Amino acid sequence: MDPIDLLEKHLETQFPTDPTGHDWAHISRVKNLALSIAQVEGGNTEVIHVGALLHDISDHKFNGGKLNKNGSKAIEILNDFTFSEAVKSQVIQLVDQISFKGKNHQDHTLTLEAKIIQDADRLDAIGAIGLARAFAYGGFKNRPIFEPAVLPKNHSNFEEYASDKSHTINHFYEKLLLLKDKINTETGKKIAEKRHAHLLTFLDAFFEEWNSTSNQTNYLKVWNTLH
Ligand code: ADP
Ligand code: NI
Repeated sequence: MDPIDLLEKHLETQFPTDPTGHDWAHISRVKNLALSIAQVEGGNTEVIHVGALLHDISDHKFNGGKLNKNGSKAIEILNDFTFSEAVKSQVIQLVDQISFKGKNHQDHTLTLEAKIIQDADRLDAIGAIGLARAFAYGGFKNRPIFEPAVLPKNHSNFEEYASDKSHTINHFYEKLLLLKDKINTETGKKIAEKRHAHLLTFLDAFFEEWNSTSNQTNYLKVWNTLH
């Protein structure tokens, strides 16, 4: 059997559900989106496919709260499958590069394959699915959906961003609405425009139903300072 099929079966069994949004369904959507972006943008399809499947494996949520920086988790899994050394080393390098590390973190050294996977991952965090994932995550963490008086923050580093426990609407202003301007590829940017617009339409309706459109102006002011 093809090692990619075997790896997919392994991940599907290993991560059937995950309340922090890293389940097989997310992995599979990111893989499909990355491969469709690659059809236009190019890149090594095998590296993109395997890299997308393992893109979250170094995440701090899988590693007892710590970022798994040296890619050892990816190495451990890849060694169980018959990928070439070239594919393995490119995948290990890219899985470490692609997770969002707070607003001031910029990566200038990403390979095309990493850029495409990062775009697909960020696109899955915005739009209708991204919105659903945000509230699922907030519910899992016991966070309120909204507290009008608690405005979004400009986090100065990743630790501050990761330890913030405020309501889920803030996550839209602190992260989700910033993602559109961080997309690497032209193909990804087009998809992001549409998904970003869905977030804005949702937020307008949300603040209106909460009778809180005056607060929305304050949120937008903070957002303007963040991006
Ligand atoms: P990924 O690793 O897939 O890029 P994250 O680990 O940052 O994404 O988050 C997983 C999902 O949970 C995403 O959809 C993200 O928007 C959501 N999420 C992360 N942090 C929060 C938060 N503080 N409030 C609401 N949703 C969150
Ligand atoms: Ni992801």
